[in-house]
Amino acid sequence: MIDQAESLRKMVTENKEPKNEGAGGLVKIFSVVSGKGGVGKTNVSVNLAISLAQMGKRVLLMDADIGMTNADIIMGINYEYDLFDYLEGRASLDEIIYEGPEGMKMISGGAGLLEIERLDEETQKAFIDELIELGGFDVMVIDNGAGISSETLSFITFAHEVILVTTPEPTAITDAYRVLKIISFYDLKPSVKLIVNKVSSNEAGNEAFGKLHATSKEFLTVGIENCGYIFDDARVGKAIMQQKPVVLAYPNSLSSGNIKDIAAKIVDENVFIRNVSTLKQLGNRFMKIFGT
Ligand SMILES: Nc1ncnc2c1ncn2[C@@H]1O[C@H](COP(=O)(O)OP(=O)(O)O)[C@@H](O)[C@H]1O
Ligand SMILES: [Mg+2]
Repeated sequence: MIDQAESLRKMVTENKEPKNEGAGGLVKIFSVVSGKGGVGKTNVSVNLAISLAQMGKRVLLMDADIGMTNADIIMGINYEYDLFDYLEGRASLDEIIYEGPEGMKMISGGAGLLEIERLDEETQKAFIDELIELGGFDVMVIDNGAGISSETLSFITFAHEVILVTTPEPTAITDAYRVLKIISFYDLKPSVKLIVNKVSSNEAGNEAFGKLHATSKEFLTVGIENCGYIFDDARVGKAIMQQKPVVLAYPNSLSSGNIKDIAAKIVDENVFIRNVSTLKQLGNRFMKIFGT
């Protein structure tokens, strides 16, 4: 795993030139992960993606929870095709990219995520080239399944930034710490952004962040950045019942305000510049996951 991260870094520094000059420029990739399930990853990913699109970013959301993809349900989108259909030749890449709200785009990994490792090099290359061509994305948000699987590990390595979601519950915090431990042990990322979801007060958020921060500081090498808190808000559930993301159904609700603040924070110009990536690098990152 350490070798993997090192060779990835090497590839990134060796390929500074964008392959497709016309296709845009910088892409920032966020991977949303958690220890425990049900802490709000999908809700965060979808609403963050929409908020970023509302800020004028070209956003691609990838639903990478193999077991239960539900970003589509929150948005009321019916996928006909996913990555698996593309890999099996039933659909073009264009056909597996769906239009979401506010001009954002979505792609469902589906069972395709399990197939990726078995692809021959030519198919991998075709996928990367086509994605780069379609490209023009500023931001990619990957909604992962809970816990650590080989797919999640790949997407942690692949992304520029990891967003770890937890709730203040002790079980969620313990599981979040396990994820941090793995990221630290394998040196996958120097730091992780933490979102504490479903808080009843700022104090509850501070307490949860404080616990993880203190324990990690003592035992781990990975840093934790406080990305913000999202209040426990009945409007989230109400919005889901309407199959609408909360930032669209209830834009003035407490949780929508929290999510928009987080979106504004993560597109902070300095953060972007520090982690610039060209489309060629994006291709290389895909190579890394899809490679043998
Ligand atoms: N801030 C919040 N306030 C209230 N309920 C929330 C909040 N965030 C998520 N939920 C609820 O928690 C449940 C799990 O959310 P989900 O995004 O599917 O979690 P995950 O993707 O981590 O499994 C959903 O029923 C959702 O409505
Ligand atoms: Mg989910």
